[in-house]
Amino acid sequence: MKLYFATQNPHKVGEMQKILPNIELMIPPDFTCVEDGTDFMQNSVKKARSLFQVVNSPVIADDSGLCIDCLGGNPGIFSSRYGSDLRYGKFLCSNQAEKNLSIVKEVNEALSEKSMDATLWENRKCRFICALTFMTGENRFICFQETLEGCIAHAPAEDAKGGFGYDPIVFLPEYGKTVAELSEDEKNRISHRGKAAAHLIKYLSALN
Ligand code: IMP
Repeated sequence: MKLYFATQNPHKVGEMQKILPNIELMIPPDFTCVEDGTDFMQNSVKKARSLFQVVNSPVIADDSGLCIDCLGGNPGIFSSRYGSDLRYGKFLCSNQAEKNLSIVKEVNEALSEKSMDATLWENRKCRFICALTFMTGENRFICFQETLEGCIAHAPAEDAKGGFGYDPIVFLPEYGKTVAELSEDEKNRISHRGKAAAHLIKYLSALN
């Protein structure tokens, strides 16, 4: 089966192709979409529809991000824009490493302002969210949303080779490491994207 994937993010493509080995993912060369929805699901459906209107063939789209409890759910749907201007984050950042440091700093500042104990994982709770849409017609789609629950680390994992984006600052207490330190297979088994795609695989196999 061939599916268009509405993304320009090479990390997502790599992960998704490993998660969906029996599907040939086709990446549009210059896909863009204004992400003006108010939640992950709206943006995911919007991305899927924008691409469907161009290719007129089944597509998937993923909208994802990191939501942090003590920051009121931010950066949330603005995760990719975080640090690009002061509407999205407290500090300006020029690369992902700076964004990761900046998030840790924002979390520590927010906890201190609220007189909350920054050493407790309970107070540093966050989650990755992924809304994955499968669309076979402009008004025919299904969206699966999943999470990976974690905590904001006290510092980004050093020398972590795996993952991408905010993986080095999302610590999983039950694994004793950050998402960036998981193997590819481990991450894909428990991640927001991996679990959403597992629902899609079940759905597709029930259709056959
Ligand atoms: P979008 O879905 O393209 O709007 O961007 C999502 C953004 O959220 C990415 O650019 C990453 O910064 C972040 N993100 C989403 N999923 C992950 C993940 O699995 N690991 C780390 N960061 C992620």
